Amino acid sequence: MKNTAITFKDAKKNRQKLSMLTAYDYSTAKLMDQSGIHGILVGDSLGMVMLGYKDTLAVTMEDMLHHTRAVARGAKNSLIVADMPFLSYHTGINEAVTNAGRLIKEGGAQAVKLEGGSSFCKEIEAITRASIPVMAHLGLTPQSIHTFGGFKVQGKTQEAAQALLNDAREVEASGAFALVLECVPEKLAKKISEALSIPTIGIGAGAGCDGQILVYQDMIGMYSDFTPKFVKQYINVGTQMKQAFASYIEEVQEGIFPQKEHTFSIEDSVIDQLY
Ligand code: KIV
Repeated sequence: MKNTAITFKDAKKNRQKLSMLTAYDYSTAKLMDQSGIHGILVGDSLGMVMLGYKDTLAVTMEDMLHHTRAVARGAKNSLIVADMPFLSYHTGINEAVTNAGRLIKEGGAQAVKLEGGSSFCKEIEAITRASIPVMAHLGLTPQSIHTFGGFKVQGKTQEAAQALLNDAREVEASGAFALVLECVPEKLAKKISEALSIPTIGIGAGAGCDGQILVYQDMIGMYSDFTPKFVKQYINVGTQMKQAFASYIEEVQEGIFPQKEHTFSIEDSVIDQLY
């Protein structure tokens, strides 16, 4: 069954937990889709885990389109959400709608995600009015790291917690169909989830959210530059990959690879007549 913005909202009504992962390429998206993941986020985290930047700020619309297209070719049933990169929705409503539209028309996504609360409600309304489902994102919003002074848990003081709850209510009222809560204390995320009728998707926000999302390289041990506290590693593919690469190097050096079964044959007479 195809997951959509509507099935996400229905899942909340039916108290069914939603699972999401990030993906940035065809093969990974296909594997996740075949595993039954509800949603795939083509996150601007690709700047860090795919392109090696130190944060997400350098990611462009062209980067997002390139990776969204690859994911869209691989995933059939998952809801594909594409991140709106830094400065693609900050400079005016027209530009925000145009860029959201490009991720749908050219990228093949079925929804977009943007970071920010009340200050971006006009953009959320306008994009939603253009029939593009919007996933909002509050808490630790990585595009604002310079304002936050780093990757830090958000909403811990009375004032900050109230501001987060208010923002959550406002993005829902503006038409967002779901809300990512990143690095928010568990009890606050639960309170926000109970206050909204749209599903909350947590990352570092505890089990009280209506769904969860992880960056896939983190949960399979492929990205070792920085591992946040909230990540659970389900497998260490990084170690397995390094072992496989080392074995390959050794076998090539020792002439063990390739073997007969990896090669193509030709009639000896063809070779014999070469001059
Ligand atoms: O870019 C991303 O991967 C994200 C998730 C961490 C929610 O925004």
